[in-house]
Amino acid sequence: DKGNYKHFMEKEIHEQPEVIQHTLAHYVDFANGTVRFKGKLPFDFASLNRISLSACGTAYYAGVVAKYWFEKLARIPVDMDVASEFRYREMPMQENGLALFISQSGETADTLASLRYCKQEGQHIASIVNVPESTIARESDVIFPTLAGAEIGVASTKAFTCQLSVLLALAIMAGRARGTISAGEEQAYVKALSELPKFIRQALKADNTIADLAHELSKVKHVLYLGRGTNFPLAMEGALKLKEISYIHAEGYAAGELKHGPIALIDETMPVVVIAPDDSYYDKTVSNMQEVAARDGRIILITDESGAKKNALEDSTTIVMPTVPDVIAPIVFALPVQMLAYYTANFMGTDVDQPRNLAKSVTVE
Ligand code: M6R
Repeated sequence: DKGNYKHFMEKEIHEQPEVIQHTLAHYVDFANGTVRFKGKLPFDFASLNRISLSACGTAYYAGVVAKYWFEKLARIPVDMDVASEFRYREMPMQENGLALFISQSGETADTLASLRYCKQEGQHIASIVNVPESTIARESDVIFPTLAGAEIGVASTKAFTCQLSVLLALAIMAGRARGTISAGEEQAYVKALSELPKFIRQALKADNTIADLAHELSKVKHVLYLGRGTNFPLAMEGALKLKEISYIHAEGYAAGELKHGPIALIDETMPVVVIAPDDSYYDKTVSNMQEVAARDGRIILITDESGAKKNALEDSTTIVMPTVPDVIAPIVFALPVQMLAYYTANFMGTDVDQPRNLAKSVTVE
């Protein structure tokens, strides 16, 4: 039931504050300011020598964000690949590695094949799934559920932010186990997590600014998304969302790669969406943005309040998010990229919930 919403995707975008809260309650003891897992872990984060992450589509981008988190907070090397490549790479795997799979449906063929490969290679098998009775869940040693509820729209939204929430909780858990974050840092991260639903509600309020851009975006043929650090996977996710439901060609790039090729494409006909909260990368990304502006590129800047104050570019539109702790920014900044795709597709009148040629669950390779 779509309730008062026009599409399931719109409804699912708006459900995010609640489902994230619900999911986090499974992994976080807010009263004590600590993370915890209610089940039993069949491996020990303290002694793991590597995490191999594998997934497809949006779930893959969640994994790319998580690579930054696990490496930074827990100092564990993370190997990350799309499942359709991972399964055929014949990667040598060492003992005591964790193979972690991310899948909303738990039925994606390539992800399942990667899981079976890792099992043969003697890895600990864990999965983050939204469907606990799925095949991937059944074949895992341990599952980390996302409690997003059924996701109907083919374009994944709430499953993505719930996957990110679980992954961040796990990265904090791993950091604690390995002694790479202090008790005080853990408390600060937990406080940030506790504020997520509030920040997501604030992010949703950008809907009018974003809907106003739909008319402009609906007329273009190509859109480039740029981001650095954890905003790089968000740029790829934003581009994927736009492609899927509006059929506009879009690409997500690491901002620093701009000069290594894509800058040749920049002119007034290709908007560039820049995802840049005012974090330690902000100045670098802004200098990439200026390179775009100098070539008459039209910029849509997704930033926070302080980033918006600093932006002096004339011909740009700014989408302003709340100022949030860096660690949770990728979860909050997922919202505007989802909304940008949604409002554009809605304006164009495409079949938002069931875009052409796509299936919700991809059970063939
Ligand atoms: O069910 P899964 O999470 O394994 O699905 C993976 C991808 O097929 C999925 O995320 C796909 O890319 C979505 N349509 C993205 O919106």
